[in-house]
Amino acid sequence: MKTRFALVLALSLSATVYAEDTPADVWKAKCKSCHGEDGKAKTKMGEKEKIPDFTNADWQKKHSDEVIKDNITNGSKENAKMKAFKDKLTPEQIDALVKYIRGLSAPAK
Ligand code: HEC
Repeated sequence: MKTRFALVLALSLSATVYAEDTPADVWKAKCKSCHGEDGKAKTKMGEKEKIPDFTNADWQKKHSDEVIKDNITNGSKENAKMKAFKDKLTPEQIDALVKYIRGLSAPAK
C-alpha cells in the first residue's frame, strides 16, 4: 500500500510545473508534446488535429494576445484536445506563455 501511494505521489509530482519555471520550461512540460518544441506542431497530434504553425506570420497576425490567452486559459472552443490550463498554470505563467508564443515567430537561428 505504501509503495503504491509513493508511486502515485511521484507521478503526480513529475507533472507539476512550478511557479518559478521559465515559460520555456512550461512550454516543454505542457505544450511541446502537441505543439512541438519550436511551435510548428510537427507532431503526431499536430498533424492529426491540424494544429497551426505558431511561427507563421499570418497566424501571428490573426491572433491577438487576448485570443491566445483565452485559448490557453479556457481551452479551444473548436477543439477539445486543447484543454483549459487555468487550473494548472498561474495567470502569470499564461501571460508569459503568450509572450513566449510571440517569440516563436522570430526564432533565433
Ligand atoms: C494534447 C495536445 C495539446 C497540448 C498538450 C496543448 N495544446 Fe494547444 N492546441 C491543441 C490543439 C489540438 C489545438 C487546436 C488547433 C485548432 O484551433 O484547430 C490547440 C490550440 C492552441 C491555441 C490556439 C490556436 C489557434 O489557432 O486558435 C493556442 C494558443 C495553444 N493551443 C497554446 C497551447 C499552450 C500554450 C499549451 C501548453 C500550456 C498547449 N497549447 C498545449 C493541442 C494541444
